[in-house]
Amino acid sequence: MTTAATALPLLGLRITAGPVELRGITDDLLVPLAQLAINGIHDPDSMPFYTPWSIAAAKELPRNVAQYHWGKRSEFSLERWTADFAVHYEGELVGSQGFSTRNYLITRTGETGSWLGRAFQGRGIGTAMRQVICAFAFDCLDAQTITSSAYTDNPASLGVSRKCGYLSNGVQTVDRMGKPAILQGLILEPGRLVRYSSELTVEGLPEFRRSIGLDA
Ligand SMILES: CC(C)(COP(=O)(O)OP(=O)(O)OC[C@H]1O[C@@H](n2cnc3c(N)ncnc32)[C@H](O)[C@@H]1OP(=O)(O)O)[C@@H](O)C(=O)NCCC(=O)NCCS
Repeated sequence: MTTAATALPLLGLRITAGPVELRGITDDLLVPLAQLAINGIHDPDSMPFYTPWSIAAAKELPRNVAQYHWGKRSEFSLERWTADFAVHYEGELVGSQGFSTRNYLITRTGETGSWLGRAFQGRGIGTAMRQVICAFAFDCLDAQTITSSAYTDNPASLGVSRKCGYLSNGVQTVDRMGKPAILQGLILEPGRLVRYSSELTVEGLPEFRRSIGLDA
């Protein structure tokens, strides 16, 4: 059957590990993801993201979220790609997990980024989905390192990185909405990954590998 995944194999990827499922973000998932964000991701007086997308007015979020993902699809190339996934936990949509890279065939590295709806935070799901994306990148995409970063006032994200085995990769001071903030860089090598308790099953992998220039 011909689907959008024929054009962009990312949309046909499905990574499952026990109760955790990461799916390429097809159009039917865009508004439900925006609704999760409308329901709230963080306190209004904190900002965990480099681009403060989550504080847009509720009526603007469905279009903003959709345009962001459509933009990533339209820019997908060997030189620069982002694999964002909708995360389901025990069948329920809970948030998003991504892996973003440039010149992957040379660098074999990428940066993880993620968020969960507030109702799903603090239950170990953030750790589980990061463990799954890291195992996928190392085992299925031949990644050699994975990076991440979080503001030093984001203990949940730093906690996930620590639990997965990332090490400090230095800090930098950046402009966060007009004020200085310290961004902690993190780096993970395959031998340090603390793996999730369930094995990964992946649908659509050969097509996705070809789409990023592996097995050419
Ligand atoms: C960051 C995020 C994905 C982490 O997912 P999570 O499911 O909440 O995190 P986990 O439950 O797996 O917790 C991981 C570790 O961090 C700790 N932690 C979680 N929330 C914490 C908090 N508010 N304060 C201190 N520690 C915290 C946990 O205790 C756990 O460590 P432990 O098992 O040793 O106790 C999620 O909290 C989130 O979406 N936050 C808002 C968006 C965001 O910050 N995204 C990342 C931007 S860099």
